[in-house]
Amino acid sequence: MSDHLKRLAAEKAAELELRSGMKLGLGTGSTAKHFVDIVGERIRAGETYLCVPTSEATRLQAESLGIPLTTLDDIGEIDLTVDGADEFDPALNLVKGAGAAHLREKMVAINSKRMIVIADASKKVVQLGAFPLSVEIVQFAHGTTSRAVAKAFAAEGIAVETRLRKAKDGTALVTDNGNFVLDCVNSGIANPAALAARLDGIPGLVEHGLFVGLCSAVYLGSEEGVAVIGKSP
Ligand code: 5RP
Repeated sequence: MSDHLKRLAAEKAAELELRSGMKLGLGTGSTAKHFVDIVGERIRAGETYLCVPTSEATRLQAESLGIPLTTLDDIGEIDLTVDGADEFDPALNLVKGAGAAHLREKMVAINSKRMIVIADASKKVVQLGAFPLSVEIVQFAHGTTSRAVAKAFAAEGIAVETRLRKAKDGTALVTDNGNFVLDCVNSGIANPAALAARLDGIPGLVEHGLFVGLCSAVYLGSEEGVAVIGKSP
């Protein structure tokens, strides 16, 4: 999607959702980046926000914009978290993690009164799974964990190929938390909650990118404007 549509979605979310004084969770990725820019603009215009970033990349961006930051431990409950997504379905279940930030993103989302997604039409799907599911795993015995992940998909009747995500230099990508990521290319996730429950039970699996029942609304940018799907603020 063009950067212009990402910005439009972020602007509409800011217009309808932001109120000075809020505690915010700041998402990660090329769409969430626009929302962080807007929070920076609002702060320069005199509004106040206290924010928790969901990745080191977002922390660096927010710091460069002079956005006041704190930690999830210190902030208490967050009013609003705004993030991107790789896919969302009609029930607003999400696949996240292409930026390898889904562990912190989920921890921040779960500790938020409201979590919303900004996205473009390419992220809207009837069923999750066209995009590979990101799964963060510990480095120790990652091959064993990878096989357990494949079994969990198989138990749900889903064909899967698990690939260890590589960094640009060809070595295994290491997340902000020191872990590896599996990209699970799959045949489609008919029951996201059931697959999530199976994945949650695997020792060595730190967090998967299925966000079930966490997202309240999606701001969907298109050339026709921004549609709001889900619950209004
Ligand atoms: C990072 C994420 C991102 O929010 C997701 O990958 C969407 O990114 P983008 O806005 O660049 O398409 O989950 O872990």
